[in-house]
Amino acid sequence: MSADITELKRQAAEKAVEFVQSGMVVGLGTGSTAVHAVRAVGRLLKSGELQNIVAIPTSEATACEAESLQIPLVTFDEHPKVDITIDGADEIAPNLDVIKGLGGALLREKIVAAASRRFVIVADHTKRVPQLGSKAPVPVEVISFAEQPVSDYLESLGARVVKRMDEDGERPFRTDENNIILDCYLSPIVNPQQIAAAIRQQPGVVEHGLFLNMATDAVLATPDGIEHLTHE
Ligand code: 5RP
Repeated sequence: MSADITELKRQAAEKAVEFVQSGMVVGLGTGSTAVHAVRAVGRLLKSGELQNIVAIPTSEATACEAESLQIPLVTFDEHPKVDITIDGADEIAPNLDVIKGLGGALLREKIVAAASRRFVIVADHTKRVPQLGSKAPVPVEVISFAEQPVSDYLESLGARVVKRMDEDGERPFRTDENNIILDCYLSPIVNPQQIAAAIRQQPGVVEHGLFLNMATDAVLATPDGIEHLTHE
Protein backbone atom coordinates (compact mmCIF):
# COMPACT_ATOMS: atom_id res chain seq x y z
CA MET A 1 0.00 0.00 0.00
CA SER A 2 1.39 3.42 -0.84
CA ALA A 3 2.46 5.73 1.95
CA ASP A 4 -0.02 8.31 0.65
CA ILE A 5 -3.00 6.01 1.12
CA THR A 6 -1.85 5.06 4.62
CA GLU A 7 -1.62 8.75 5.47
CA LEU A 8 -5.12 9.40 4.11
CA LYS A 9 -6.50 6.53 6.18
CA ARG A 10 -4.89 8.02 9.28
CA GLN A 11 -6.29 11.49 8.50
CA ALA A 12 -9.84 10.17 8.04
CA ALA A 13 -9.72 8.11 11.23
CA GLU A 14 -8.27 10.91 13.35
CA LYS A 15 -10.85 13.38 12.05
CA ALA A 16 -13.66 11.03 13.09
CA VAL A 17 -12.17 10.65 16.58
CA GLU A 18 -12.89 14.38 17.04
CA PHE A 19 -16.58 13.32 17.35
CA VAL A 20 -15.77 11.23 20.45
CA GLN A 21 -16.49 12.91 23.78
CA SER A 22 -15.54 12.01 27.33
CA GLY A 23 -17.94 9.55 28.96
CA MET A 24 -18.95 7.87 25.70
CA VAL A 25 -19.29 4.18 24.88
CA VAL A 26 -17.25 3.78 21.69
CA GLY A 27 -17.41 1.00 19.11
CA LEU A 28 -13.95 0.25 17.78
CA GLY A 29 -13.80 -0.89 14.17
CA THR A 30 -11.48 -3.33 12.45
CA GLY A 31 -8.98 -2.91 9.64
CA SER A 32 -6.06 -0.79 8.50
CA THR A 33 -8.11 2.45 8.62
CA ALA A 34 -10.06 1.87 11.83
CA VAL A 35 -6.86 0.96 13.68
CA HIS A 36 -5.78 4.61 13.40
CA ALA A 37 -8.95 5.60 15.26
CA VAL A 38 -8.25 3.02 17.96
CA ARG A 39 -4.74 4.41 18.39
CA ALA A 40 -6.00 7.99 18.48
CA VAL A 41 -8.55 7.11 21.19
CA GLY A 42 -5.76 5.42 23.14
CA ARG A 43 -3.52 8.48 22.83
CA LEU A 44 -6.27 10.90 23.90
CA LEU A 45 -7.14 8.73 26.90
CA LYS A 46 -3.49 8.58 27.92
CA SER A 47 -3.07 12.35 27.63
CA GLY A 48 -6.30 12.97 29.58
CA GLU A 49 -7.98 14.83 26.71
CA LEU A 50 -10.61 12.09 26.77
CA GLN A 51 -11.84 10.62 30.04
CA ASN A 52 -14.19 7.83 31.14
CA ILE A 53 -14.29 6.19 27.73
CA VAL A 54 -15.28 2.54 27.50
CA ALA A 55 -15.19 0.60 24.26
CA ILE A 56 -16.65 -2.42 22.50
CA PRO A 57 -14.28 -3.95 19.92
CA THR A 58 -15.52 -5.42 16.63
CA SER A 59 -12.94 -8.22 16.46
CA GLU A 60 -10.37 -10.11 18.49
CA ALA A 61 -7.63 -8.20 16.63
CA THR A 62 -9.14 -4.86 17.64
CA ALA A 63 -9.60 -6.08 21.22
CA CYS A 64 -5.86 -6.90 21.35
CA GLU A 65 -4.95 -3.49 19.95
CA ALA A 66 -7.24 -1.70 22.41
CA GLU A 67 -5.93 -3.69 25.37
CA SER A 68 -2.36 -2.83 24.41
CA LEU A 69 -3.39 0.85 24.58
CA GLN A 70 -5.17 0.44 27.95
CA ILE A 71 -8.57 1.32 26.46
CA PRO A 72 -11.14 -0.17 28.88
CA LEU A 73 -13.28 -2.77 27.08
CA VAL A 74 -16.85 -3.60 28.02
CA THR A 75 -19.61 -5.87 26.72
CA PHE A 76 -23.22 -5.36 25.66
CA ASP A 77 -24.28 -6.82 29.04
CA GLU A 78 -22.92 -3.69 30.70
CA HIS A 79 -23.59 -1.23 27.85
CA PRO A 80 -26.31 -2.30 25.39
CA LYS A 81 -26.12 1.02 23.51
CA VAL A 82 -23.01 2.43 21.85
CA ASP A 83 -22.71 6.20 21.47
CA ILE A 84 -20.44 6.19 18.43
CA THR A 85 -18.72 3.56 16.31
CA ILE A 86 -15.87 4.38 13.95
CA ASP A 87 -15.15 1.73 11.34
CA GLY A 88 -13.71 1.31 7.85
CA ALA A 89 -15.38 0.11 4.66
CA ASP A 90 -14.48 -1.56 1.39
CA GLU A 91 -16.91 0.41 -0.78
CA ILE A 92 -18.98 3.51 -0.06
CA ALA A 93 -21.97 4.45 -2.22
CA PRO A 94 -23.18 8.06 -2.54
CA ASN A 95 -26.06 7.40 -0.08
CA LEU A 96 -23.53 6.02 2.49
CA ASP A 97 -24.54 2.40 2.03
CA VAL A 98 -21.34 0.39 2.31
CA ILE A 99 -19.77 -3.00 1.74
CA LYS A 100 -17.69 -4.24 4.67
CA GLY A 101 -15.94 -7.43 5.61
CA LEU A 102 -12.88 -7.82 3.43
CA GLY A 103 -11.08 -7.88 6.79
CA GLY A 104 -13.34 -10.73 7.89
CA ALA A 105 -15.00 -9.04 10.87
CA LEU A 106 -18.36 -8.17 9.31
CA LEU A 107 -20.51 -10.09 11.80
CA ARG A 108 -19.34 -8.36 14.97
CA GLU A 109 -19.00 -5.11 13.01
CA LYS A 110 -22.65 -5.24 12.01
CA ILE A 111 -23.76 -6.12 15.55
CA VAL A 112 -21.83 -3.16 16.97
CA ALA A 113 -22.99 -0.81 14.19
CA ALA A 114 -26.63 -1.78 14.76
CA ALA A 115 -26.28 -0.94 18.46
CA SER A 116 -24.74 2.46 17.71
CA ARG A 117 -26.43 5.86 17.84
CA ARG A 118 -23.83 7.20 15.44
CA PHE A 119 -21.97 4.98 12.95
CA VAL A 120 -19.09 6.77 11.27
CA ILE A 121 -17.35 5.25 8.26
CA VAL A 122 -13.72 6.27 7.79
CA ALA A 123 -11.88 5.73 4.52
CA ASP A 124 -9.59 7.11 1.88
CA HIS A 125 -11.16 8.35 -1.34
CA THR A 126 -10.45 5.11 -3.27
CA LYS A 127 -13.34 3.42 -1.42
CA ARG A 128 -15.91 5.67 -3.01
CA VAL A 129 -17.96 4.01 -5.78
CA PRO A 130 -20.97 5.06 -7.86
CA GLN A 131 -22.68 1.73 -7.14
CA LEU A 132 -21.93 -0.99 -4.58
CA GLY A 133 -20.28 -4.07 -6.06
CA SER A 134 -18.29 -2.00 -8.57
CA LYS A 135 -14.99 -3.37 -7.29
CA ALA A 136 -15.42 -5.34 -4.08
CA PRO A 137 -17.26 -8.61 -3.52
CA VAL A 138 -19.98 -8.89 -0.91
CA PRO A 139 -18.55 -11.11 1.82
CA VAL A 140 -21.04 -13.62 3.20
CA GLU A 141 -20.27 -15.31 6.51
CA VAL A 142 -21.47 -18.90 6.44
CA ILE A 143 -21.56 -21.84 8.83
CA SER A 144 -19.02 -24.28 7.43
CA PHE A 145 -21.54 -27.17 7.43
CA ALA A 146 -23.72 -25.22 4.98
CA GLU A 147 -21.00 -24.28 2.50
CA GLN A 148 -22.25 -26.21 -0.52
CA PRO A 149 -25.98 -25.35 -0.37
CA VAL A 150 -25.22 -21.71 0.43
CA SER A 151 -22.69 -21.49 -2.38
CA ASP A 152 -25.18 -22.99 -4.85
CA TYR A 153 -27.86 -20.59 -3.64
CA LEU A 154 -25.60 -17.53 -3.97
CA GLU A 155 -24.72 -18.60 -7.53
CA SER A 156 -28.42 -18.88 -8.29
CA LEU A 157 -28.67 -15.19 -7.31
CA GLY A 158 -26.11 -14.38 -10.01
CA ALA A 159 -22.98 -14.22 -7.85
CA ARG A 160 -19.56 -15.52 -8.75
CA VAL A 161 -18.66 -17.17 -5.46
CA VAL A 162 -15.09 -17.45 -4.18
CA LYS A 163 -14.35 -19.16 -0.88
CA ARG A 164 -11.97 -16.99 1.09
CA MET A 165 -8.68 -18.62 2.05
CA ASP A 166 -6.10 -17.81 4.72
CA GLU A 167 -3.15 -15.66 3.74
CA ASP A 168 -1.06 -18.76 2.99
CA GLY A 169 -3.81 -19.89 0.59
CA GLU A 170 -3.87 -23.39 2.06
CA ARG A 171 -6.68 -23.32 4.59
CA PRO A 172 -10.10 -21.67 4.54
CA PHE A 173 -10.18 -18.29 6.27
CA ARG A 174 -11.97 -18.57 9.63
CA THR A 175 -13.78 -15.68 11.28
CA ASP A 176 -13.66 -14.92 15.01
CA GLU A 177 -16.78 -17.12 15.26
CA ASN A 178 -15.01 -19.93 13.36
CA ASN A 179 -17.25 -19.54 10.31
CA ILE A 180 -16.10 -19.37 6.68
CA ILE A 181 -16.56 -16.51 4.22
CA LEU A 182 -17.87 -16.78 0.67
CA ASP A 183 -16.98 -13.67 -1.33
CA CYS A 184 -19.75 -12.89 -3.82
CA TYR A 185 -18.92 -10.91 -6.95
CA LEU A 186 -22.17 -9.31 -8.09
CA SER A 187 -20.83 -6.33 -9.97
CA PRO A 188 -22.43 -3.84 -9.86
CA ILE A 189 -25.43 -4.30 -7.58
CA VAL A 190 -28.53 -2.69 -9.04
CA ASN A 191 -30.77 -3.20 -6.01
CA PRO A 192 -28.75 -3.71 -2.79
CA GLN A 193 -31.84 -4.02 -0.56
CA GLN A 194 -33.22 -6.79 -2.71
CA ILE A 195 -29.99 -8.77 -2.87
CA ALA A 196 -29.41 -8.31 0.89
CA ALA A 197 -32.89 -9.68 1.65
CA ALA A 198 -32.35 -12.60 -0.73
CA ILE A 199 -28.97 -13.55 0.77
CA ARG A 200 -30.51 -13.59 4.26
CA GLN A 201 -33.16 -16.12 3.28
CA GLN A 202 -30.79 -19.07 2.93
CA PRO A 203 -30.24 -21.23 6.04
CA GLY A 204 -26.56 -21.33 6.94
CA VAL A 205 -25.96 -17.68 6.10
CA VAL A 206 -24.88 -15.95 9.30
CA GLU A 207 -24.45 -12.39 7.97
CA HIS A 208 -23.46 -10.47 4.87
CA GLY A 209 -21.31 -7.42 4.28
CA LEU A 210 -23.98 -5.10 2.88
CA PHE A 211 -24.45 -2.39 5.53
CA LEU A 212 -27.49 -0.57 4.19
CA ASN A 213 -29.01 2.50 5.78
CA MET A 214 -26.72 2.12 8.79
CA ALA A 215 -23.95 4.73 8.44
CA THR A 216 -24.82 8.16 9.82
CA ASP A 217 -21.57 9.77 8.65
CA ALA A 218 -18.61 9.13 6.38
CA VAL A 219 -15.26 10.84 6.79
CA LEU A 220 -13.37 10.51 3.53
CA ALA A 221 -9.78 11.64 3.16
CA THR A 222 -8.88 12.77 -0.35
CA PRO A 223 -5.67 14.28 -1.72
CA ASP A 224 -7.54 17.64 -1.69
CA GLY A 225 -8.67 17.44 1.93
CA ILE A 226 -11.20 15.76 4.17
CA GLU A 227 -14.88 15.43 3.30
CA HIS A 228 -17.48 14.84 6.00
CA LEU A 229 -20.69 13.40 4.57
CA THR A 230 -23.81 12.82 6.61
CA HIS A 231 -26.78 10.59 5.91
CA GLU A 232 -29.84 12.50 4.76
C1 5RP B 1 -13.20 -5.57 8.23
C2 5RP B 1 -13.77 -4.41 7.52
C3 5RP B 1 -12.89 -3.26 7.25
O1 5RP B 1 -13.39 -2.15 7.90
C4 5RP B 1 -12.82 -3.04 5.78
O2 5RP B 1 -12.39 -4.24 5.17
C5 5RP B 1 -11.87 -1.90 5.42
O3 5RP B 1 -10.58 -2.25 5.80
P1 5RP B 1 -9.34 -1.32 5.53
O4 5RP B 1 -9.54 -0.08 6.33
O5 5RP B 1 -8.16 -2.14 6.01
O6 5RP B 1 -9.27 -1.05 4.06
O7 5RP B 1 -14.93 -4.36 7.16
O8 5RP B 1 -14.12 -6.62 8.33
